[in-house]
Amino acid sequence: MSKKEQETLNLYHKFYASRQLEKVSLFQVFQEKINANSVIYPGSFVHLSPAFVFPNVVLIDANQNAKRYFESADYKSLIDRNKRYPQKSSFQFFGQDYKTIIDSLVGQFDLILSFYAGYISGPCKSYIRQGGYLLVNDSHGDAGLANLDPDYQLVATINESMNEYEWNELNLNKYFTPKKPLPISMDYLLSFGKGLQYQEMASYYLFQYLGS
Ligand SMILES: C[S@@+](CC[C@H](N)C(=O)[O-])C[C@H]1O[C@@H](n2cnc3c(N)ncnc32)[C@H](O)[C@@H]1O
Repeated sequence: MSKKEQETLNLYHKFYASRQLEKVSLFQVFQEKINANSVIYPGSFVHLSPAFVFPNVVLIDANQNAKRYFESADYKSLIDRNKRYPQKSSFQFFGQDYKTIIDSLVGQFDLILSFYAGYISGPCKSYIRQGGYLLVNDSHGDAGLANLDPDYQLVATINESMNEYEWNELNLNKYFTPKKPLPISMDYLLSFGKGLQYQEMASYYLFQYLGS
């Protein structure tokens, strides 16, 4: 096996397991509060650990190394060894642009994940079933964008400290007030390309999808 092939097989371990960035406890905290079966994760890279907690998971990413990983690594055994639910895991990876909607998956998901991968809450919202959820951080401004989108309502925040996650449903209207007076709009946030500094901030934001 070439060095390149070895590196490909090791991608999940290198980027997630060895750096303690799997976020399994985050997904478990969500699962204890809101029982989700099906989860879609656009801009996932090889972050497959949602499949350790949720039985039906779809990942989408256009990155060539992610595509190679899912073509060659034994990720199914990794999921089977780590899954926390009794039923068989259903897992799919789509190596493509997440803005190109996969018609057969529309309206199929209880939860969509958006972490560090751009504006997902808008282009990918049709994947969420009505009443489903968006779990998002604001690194690329996607939480701020969801907050301005009438199809979403903020229902909880989750703060992370040393891989411990604290769930909060109180005083949610304190979030998304900018530190400096700014002409905040979706266009402004999209042109800014990253999260703004708000007076109160959380590690993760949970929105409920009100659209249809
Ligand atoms: C910084 S990584 C974050 C990966 C993962 N979400 C995480 O939190 O570890 C951003 C990923 O988003 C993917 N990405 C960005 N824009 C995309 C698009 N339009 N379609 C598909 N993948 C995209 C990139 O290929 C990359 O793998």
